Amino acid sequence: MDQIKYLKTLALLGCDQKPVRITAKDLEKDLKSSDKTVSRNLKYLEERGLIERDISPSGQNVKIAPAGMKLLSKEFADYKKIFNVKEKTELEGVVVSGLGEGQYYISVSGYMKQFQEKLGFTPFPGTLNVKIKEYCFDARKKMEELPCIKIDGFSDGQRTYGASDCYPAKINAIRGYIIVPERTHYQTDLLEMIAPVKMREALNLTDGEEVTVVVGNFDDCR
Ligand code: CDP
Repeated sequence: MDQIKYLKTLALLGCDQKPVRITAKDLEKDLKSSDKTVSRNLKYLEERGLIERDISPSGQNVKIAPAGMKLLSKEFADYKKIFNVKEKTELEGVVVSGLGEGQYYISVSGYMKQFQEKLGFTPFPGTLNVKIKEYCFDARKKMEELPCIKIDGFSDGQRTYGASDCYPAKINAIRGYIIVPERTHYQTDLLEMIAPVKMREALNLTDGEEVTVVVGNFDDCR
């Protein structure tokens, strides 16, 4: 069976982001197979750890597992090579300090859980702030057209926390994500980057240091 075709169809139904209620009938038409074949193949994908299923008498919720997303990403990377798609932008700026709020936000469990699940690592609690040079403002705008991973907003009963978009990025050899809150009133000349390590230590960065942030999809990200 064509695993990529199944994973792609599921992703288009939203199973790449969260568990979605799926019936074999939903897939039958898209995959041009009988519902028996579809059911058998979903089981096969589950057994190989490519999808996760929560089955109950009333139906099943399906989510693509990290291993499944990796296969899809690889396929996508291949197409980008074939069509020579450049999906990178380089932003130059200087390291600056903020108000120390990053540490608080990144540690909020509603965000932390999503980072772990969707980005595949536990971020160092905080964001490295990079103030972008004016000549990179256009490139900064272009950044928002690049593929990103969505972090959902939520409420903890006391207050609400906004959604944000995460763009894969790197400074030298350190990989992480630029995190852009979806709310307005956001300073677009400032990049906030999260990573599994404290970048100031790993890269020996101090305020005022010039850095180049490469934003874009890496073949092996996720
Ligand atoms: O608001 P500010 O960026 O100054 O602080 P923060 O977001 O609370 O992060 C705490 C400290 O860790 C800051 O000095 C950040 O620049 C730094 N940091 C880092 O070096 N690497 C990360 N991956 C995240 C934060």
